[in-house]
Amino acid sequence: MVKIGNIELPDFPLLLAPMEDVSDPPFRRLCKMHGADLMYSEFISSEGLIRDAIKSRMKLDIFDYERPVGIQIFGGDEEAMALSAKIVEAVNPDLIDINFGCPVKKVVCKGAGAGVLKDVDLMIRLTKAVISSTSLPVTVKTRLGWDEDSINIDEVAERLQDVGVQALTVHARTRAQMYKGHSDWTHIQRIKNNPRITMPIFGNGDIDSPEKALEYKNRFGLDGMMIGRAAIGYPWIFDEIKHYFKTGEHLPKPGMPERIEAASNHLKWAMEWKGERLGIVETRRHYTNYFKNIHGFKEYRQKLVTTDGADDLMKVFDEIRDAFADYQLS
Ligand SMILES: Cc1cc2nc3c(=O)[nH]c(=O)nc-3n(C[C@H](O)[C@H](O)[C@H](O)COP(=O)(O)O)c2cc1C
Repeated sequence: MVKIGNIELPDFPLLLAPMEDVSDPPFRRLCKMHGADLMYSEFISSEGLIRDAIKSRMKLDIFDYERPVGIQIFGGDEEAMALSAKIVEAVNPDLIDINFGCPVKKVVCKGAGAGVLKDVDLMIRLTKAVISSTSLPVTVKTRLGWDEDSINIDEVAERLQDVGVQALTVHARTRAQMYKGHSDWTHIQRIKNNPRITMPIFGNGDIDSPEKALEYKNRFGLDGMMIGRAAIGYPWIFDEIKHYFKTGEHLPKPGMPERIEAASNHLKWAMEWKGERLGIVETRRHYTNYFKNIHGFKEYRQKLVTTDGADDLMKVFDEIRDAFADYQLS
């Protein structure tokens, strides 16, 4: 069992990564159904929360069926982080996660996200500000360091633990790498092997198959792993990995009926949550992933992204069901 505060997770939990514009309640619901053990919200700007920006507030929505769930915040100002921790606590998530890993310029420039990897003292002050404003467990997600010449995750991990962080997830890239190049998990293994480190350490970066998940589980000896891009349009990845861990065998791949059900549920739940119009528009970007490599799907994808109105869209899904009734995935 892995414990974060009093949250109990199974051995070697699989975490769904926080992903902006992706890890919202409809998507999380699908990942939960398919085996994610701990999930995070999209990152939320602390400044936005305080300004009461609607976009930031919507990201605070969590539902009981998805527990345990964490809300992730970012920001470069201690007071704003402290205040936003209080706002977050009021919606009662299971934990608060701080993003010290976002490589995007507009975030980094404000001294937030991966920006603080260049200023560990600031990172620690921001972390303390959050921890002292909440009774919830606080976790951190970060990267290896700013660039290859300044990998400082060893120091960062110790100092974060010393001020009360209860779990650490490391995306095994530097900020300079953005999403390119190789993710090097040996750095995370070193942190896990540091006898001073007692908090759970989760690895993240490029897990995209049951084989790779098992290889990394055995090779690096971490407490669990977090999966991001491989789950987009493919929430089955969690069950597939767990089954492979247990049996060494592969679950059958989801066929067209399962993919259609997942995509149409995603749409339905998005409409229930955000309203018909926004739900329809914001689900459009997911269809390509649900139906990746499906031969002859292009014309239906086109219909899915251009049709307005819930009823008409459900008719498009019926059409897809008929057209692909005998389709065999290769
Ligand atoms: C579309 C997208 C949005 C992301 N948004 C966030 C975010 O809000 N917070 C965060 O900590 N990381 C964010 N990330 C990074 C992921 O959480 C994860 O660290 C990264 O994708 C590497 O894991 P993977 O190889 O399994 O995708 C995002 C990644 C993607 C692809």
